Amino acid sequence: MVKLSFGRGLLFGTAVLGVLAGSGVPASAEEVLNIYTAREPGLIKPVLDEFTKETGIKVNTIFIANGLEERIRTEGANSPADVIVTVDIGRLAAAKDYGVTQAVKSEALEKVIPAVYRDPEGHWFGIALRGRVVYASKERVKQDKITYEELADPKWKGKICTRSGQHVYTIGLIASMIAHHGLEKTEEWLKAVKNNLARKPDGGDREQAKAIFAGECDIALGNTYYVGQMQTNEKQPEQKDWAASIKVLFPNANDRGTHVNISGMALAKYAPNKENAVKLMEFLASDKGQTLYGQQVFEYPVEPGIKPSEIVQGWGTLKPDTLPLAEIAKNRKAASELVDKVGFDEGPAS
Ligand SMILES: [Fe+2]
Repeated sequence: MVKLSFGRGLLFGTAVLGVLAGSGVPASAEEVLNIYTAREPGLIKPVLDEFTKETGIKVNTIFIANGLEERIRTEGANSPADVIVTVDIGRLAAAKDYGVTQAVKSEALEKVIPAVYRDPEGHWFGIALRGRVVYASKERVKQDKITYEELADPKWKGKICTRSGQHVYTIGLIASMIAHHGLEKTEEWLKAVKNNLARKPDGGDREQAKAIFAGECDIALGNTYYVGQMQTNEKQPEQKDWAASIKVLFPNANDRGTHVNISGMALAKYAPNKENAVKLMEFLASDKGQTLYGQQVFEYPVEPGIKPSEIVQGWGTLKPDTLPLAEIAKNRKAASELVDKVGFDEGPAS
């Protein structure tokens, strides 16, 4: 059934005009749905195109790099947003906290997406996984195993690079350390890691690989998919050299597993096209959806039975930490406070 509100749809001129002009056209030809996404539209286009091909539902993609949750909150009940597609449990949990999501009860979603990668109340769902791994210099780092705990070892003094401690990716990792070791031990660990840093935290994950390539540090924290982005970067081919200079070490592969985060989705609170929105969410979670999406973004499917792309497989095997992401979300605030308390972003003491 078409559930288009013209008032809300006016932002999306073409779709709405199509409906107005085509009152005699069968409803199914005019169905739409609006995605608010923090992901580059090009990245998710192939999977959305496939969805449209299969269902006839047209997808309007609204790219909002920052402040997606605030925007929906400001729009309130008039928001045209149906589905939120974003990255990191931090942002998904924030969307729920902001009150801009609603619960979805779907057997299809619950069957496919492991419970650890979705909100127990159905407010957010993982589509794909990214590991927070260690990039290590192929040239200077001989070991092929590592743990997060080991990053505190003085043997790494002056050798570690990372982005800001306050970035959501770092916060997720620290929050997982709190869940596993408690606040006090995590504080000691974070202090020691800070003192092992080669320099003040700076730049994104790719800049850390660049720093390894340049010899500024030997190891760095980074998300898995950036390796794929660097390896295939035709626009900035120098990134291929950065990627070639590192190997991926999956921390804690021999014990609890590597800290993972999700890219995921949520149903927007006032979704004007709710039925279509749930259809899209179920499509993204399907084998086909997960495969297409994962291939495009160099991430791991959330369903363990689906293989990642060949490029992703080339880095080794990811054994994900099974800590529920909802637990990590609970420790985010404490993690952020620890980062400030130890002065992590000020860099090493000497
Ligand atoms: Fe990222």
